Amino acid sequence: MEFFIDTAIVDEIKEINAWGVLSGVTTNPSLIVASGRDFREVIGEIAELVPGGAISAEVTALDAEGMIKEGKDVAAWHKQVVVKLPLTPAGLQACKALTAEGIRTNVTLCFSVSQALLAARAGATYISPFVGRVDDLSWDGIGLIRDIKEAYVLGDVQTKVLAASIRHPMHAVHAALAGADVATIPYKVFKQMISHPLTDKGIDGFMADWAKRAGASPATPPSEAGSNPQAEAAKK
Ligand code: E4P
Repeated sequence: MEFFIDTAIVDEIKEINAWGVLSGVTTNPSLIVASGRDFREVIGEIAELVPGGAISAEVTALDAEGMIKEGKDVAAWHKQVVVKLPLTPAGLQACKALTAEGIRTNVTLCFSVSQALLAARAGATYISPFVGRVDDLSWDGIGLIRDIKEAYVLGDVQTKVLAASIRHPMHAVHAALAGADVATIPYKVFKQMISHPLTDKGIDGFMADWAKRAGASPATPPSEAGSNPQAEAAKK
């Protein structure tokens, strides 16, 4: 499963991208507003930060003609842009038209398998089922991912399942186990995913032992202490 980051905040993207795990970035109108940045400017900067990554930029028009026009404009900003469209009749129409022009699309606000099947027929590159918002309604967000993936595999559909509205690390784990092709993860959840108290404790223990080796100053970090003095002495 690939990882996208779900944010328009450049510092968050820089930090997680440095881990070497990102294949793209998703934004939506709420995330662009939260970034406090100009839409076009921030999308261009994000695309440069994640070379080759898929960068989702969402249209705000609600009619098909407006979505197609806006989609073409946004796609022209950068070759990595993927046009995000809502899962409405107008969104499907725009998806079909933009796909015919070779523009990649991410059909968003998906809450059912039937919607996902329609988006696939309209040529969507990605379908974004919202796991967390489904769970909020006491329904099964991960089950939705699993069912969409199963229907797509049975129908030999090429549209990629992009698990969105991920709220915690186990959403990411279960999305992978349910067959999601991609999960778009908020910055905070990436930080939760990498964190483990036994990793921290293990490093502390190794460093404490390393500081005890012959000739080492306890204050000297291993990276600055050079090679092991005992090994060096043995070579002589
Ligand atoms: C991503 O494409 C979606 O816009 C996002 O994951 C929605 O997440 P939320 O339900 O936490 O707002």
